[in-house]
Amino acid sequence: MHKRRLGATGVEVTAIGLGAMPLSISGRPTEDQAIDVIRAYVEGGGNFIDTANVYCINTRDLGHNERLICKALEILGRAADVYVATKGGLTKEGSGWDCDARPEWLRASCERSLRDLKTASIFLYQLHAPDSNVPLADSVGELARLRSEGKIGHIGLSNVNVTEIDTALKIAPIISVQNKCNVLLKKSFRNGVVELCARKGMAFIPHSPVGGHGQQGRMGESGVIRDVAARHGASPQQIALAWLLGKGDHIIPIPGASRVASVVSSLGAAEIGLDTGDMQALDRLSD
Ligand SMILES: NC(=O)c1ccc[n+]([C@@H]2O[C@H](COP(=O)([O-])OP(=O)(O)OC[C@H]3O[C@@H](n4cnc5c(N)ncnc54)[C@H](OP(=O)(O)O)[C@@H]3O)[C@@H](O)[C@H]2O)c1
Repeated sequence: MHKRRLGATGVEVTAIGLGAMPLSISGRPTEDQAIDVIRAYVEGGGNFIDTANVYCINTRDLGHNERLICKALEILGRAADVYVATKGGLTKEGSGWDCDARPEWLRASCERSLRDLKTASIFLYQLHAPDSNVPLADSVGELARLRSEGKIGHIGLSNVNVTEIDTALKIAPIISVQNKCNVLLKKSFRNGVVELCARKGMAFIPHSPVGGHGQQGRMGESGVIRDVAARHGASPQQIALAWLLGKGDHIIPIPGASRVASVVSSLGAAEIGLDTGDMQALDRLSD
């Protein structure tokens, strides 16, 4: 499996990560099925899993996804060599998510994630989203303190624009940016975020890379994607991932999965080499 450098960490992760969110939110599989999904990912060569404390049903269930990943990696004996990235800065009261990136909530969330992941230091801790009620500098400042205390190894951002990244970079080293991005949603390319990440040596981690939760079918609705897929004997979702991989060596997609078949397919996307003509046809697809 191809590896990519994760920003300035010096760590090489597999080009395809695993987005673990569908294993813990509404409609989630049984625990045994969820562990099978994680097994398929790590036994297929993957070593980078994305989670968050709020990948759960509600407040009482907070940390479900982190505890699940921890348990699965313990069972598989892979806790030492799989990199887990988590996030703080949201709450999950009911069906939706709300922002809360106050320093005290970030600290409480991080300390709880340390317990749920059973680790002394979180490899990569991402601000889930800027909070319009809290200066970004205060949120990132707290992450910088958590880093200097050794509770987190590296800081990442999520759901941010160029101005927010620049603000954060003045306060702490940022090694990654995670935004919603796929071949049918190119905002992070248009607004300069992907290019800024490359220039500053940060990884760009597209979330919802095959369309987003429940939206994966959209990839197959595009005739252009279907044509490229047919030429490569691949699925439209695999082409969506191969396109992202072709857009820069700093790009590490994290496709979600609640089924083993999705994981196997996503890992296979790393083997697809799109040519210039394919890339240009996919580049031209508008949002
Ligand atoms: N930072 C943020 O605010 C934020 C927001 C959303 C998501 N995320 C992260 O990004 C990850 C990915 O996003 P997502 O799960 O919402 O959307 P996604 O990666 O676009 O995946 C959506 C669904 O597509 C299916 N799928 C994935 N790969 C496939 C493939 N190769 N072939 C066929 N179907 C495939 C899976 O369905 P099945 O469930 O049926 O397997 C998956 O649940 C999440 O798991 C989470 O870790 C972050």
